[in-house]
Amino acid sequence: MATDDIRFNDIENCDELVLAADEAHVWRFPLDKSPIAIPALAATLDLQDQERAARLKDPAARRAFVIAHGVMRYILSIYTKVAPRTLRFGAGEFGKPFLMLDGAPQFNLAHTHARAVLAVTQKVAIGADIETLRDMPDLLRLARDHFSRTEYVHLVSLPQDARMQAFHACWTRKEAYIKALGGGVSIDLKSFDVSLEPGAPAALLSVDGHDAAAREWTLRTFRFGADHVGAVAIAQPGMRIQGLNFPPL
Ligand SMILES: CC(C)(COP(=O)(O)OP(=O)(O)OC[C@H]1O[C@@H](n2cnc3c(N)ncnc32)[C@H](O)[C@@H]1OP(=O)(O)O)[C@@H](O)C(=O)NCCC(=O)NCCS
Repeated sequence: MATDDIRFNDIENCDELVLAADEAHVWRFPLDKSPIAIPALAATLDLQDQERAARLKDPAARRAFVIAHGVMRYILSIYTKVAPRTLRFGAGEFGKPFLMLDGAPQFNLAHTHARAVLAVTQKVAIGADIETLRDMPDLLRLARDHFSRTEYVHLVSLPQDARMQAFHACWTRKEAYIKALGGGVSIDLKSFDVSLEPGAPAALLSVDGHDAAAREWTLRTFRFGADHVGAVAIAQPGMRIQGLNFPPL
């Protein structure tokens, strides 16, 4: 674990939870073992969510979808004081969901088949990503296709046994940044650089060749169990980040 990784704590009383303007909450929860009874979560989903769930033929994937979206609703209801099943979502041009509610918090969901995170701020754009750490035989090809020239050269310069961790660090940081912007595939992944050196702090280093723009962001990483890593990107410098386990105690 890097020293600046987000640390996750239990919270006892959600009623006392305060999200300051310069703070992000990053909630983590499992998808392979539901933190709340599945029928209770399923009952919070709207018609659109139910249809998406029904289209998933694999029962494990369907269950994970219900957990991810049901828990997201539970967590967002803590901040909005609106019942989970009453929350209404819209989506940006490239699909980034937002709450259709005046003064609602910003949020972003990320998941694998087994783990999820939901990152929340009061007003500032936020993005999150999580990936399963795994050996990848085509790691350098993927990096050549998706990383900037600087990132690729940096990755290749690392010893062989450091590349897998560095690759995932780079991937999740880039993905968190584009998810904060909400532009999806419209954003050129090679137009910005992130740090990837093992042990170095997570950072956005430059955007379109300028480091001033990059200094406007907060970027942090986290681990979730032994085999999951992730990152959170926030469009404001110096944001404090609190990691929280769901469900609360
Ligand atoms: C949505 C996207 C931005 C990320 O998807 P992903 O990594 O597969 O999935 P994640 O688990 O991180 O995030 C999925 C969640 O993000 C949210 N989301 C959807 N569209 C989004 C967007 N444009 N921006 C931000 N968040 C979005 C949704 O809540 C979604 O959950 P759902 O599908 O269960 O409703 C993806 O569509 C994409 O365009 N990725 C870029 C692809 C790429 O080449 N990445 C290389 C990185 S180096």
